[in-house]
Amino acid sequence: MTLNPSLSALLGCIAILSLPAAALAGTREDQLAAYATAARAADPAFAGFSPARGKILHTRSFAGGKPDTPACTSCHGSEPRGAGRTPAGKAVEPMALSASPSRYTDPAKVEKWFKRNCNEVLGRECAPLEKGDWLSFMLGQ
Ligand code: HEC
Repeated sequence: MTLNPSLSALLGCIAILSLPAAALAGTREDQLAAYATAARAADPAFAGFSPARGKILHTRSFAGGKPDTPACTSCHGSEPRGAGRTPAGKAVEPMALSASPSRYTDPAKVEKWFKRNCNEVLGRECAPLEKGDWLSFMLGQ
């Protein structure tokens, strides 16, 4: 059987439109689950992520990284639902999921920036526990 061309085009559009929403919801949960698996492997006493610890990680100042960016808030701003700005003057969209609903849907992007930004701020990579705490804080904001 051959479908009416405009009907098959319409079905194609529906398939494309409905894909991202389903894929996105899974992606964030999958990424948190992967961090949880890694956190448990590092510490069998791991008892889940803490948005409260994530907030502390986001706001506290560290001495090990670059002097002009001692905290995540140096670029992301102190209010998660507000925009940030890098020292170079580049505007950064809010990190809170409620303010930037399309965030944290590309695991490679999330990993790339965790790696880069944790090195800038802490002078080392963040542990899976820290990433999961931070992400669960932002997802709830
Ligand atoms: C030097 C400035 C700077 C600092 C400091 C910084 N960030 Fe970022 N961050 C950025 C920029 C720029 C982007 C990419 C642009 C965007 O996603 O809007 C980004 C993106 C991210 C992303 C990816 C978001 C997504 O949509 O996938 C994560 C996760 C992140 N940052 C976490 C952190 C954490 C955790 C800290 C503190 C340890 C931190 N950042 C500190 C500048 C910074």
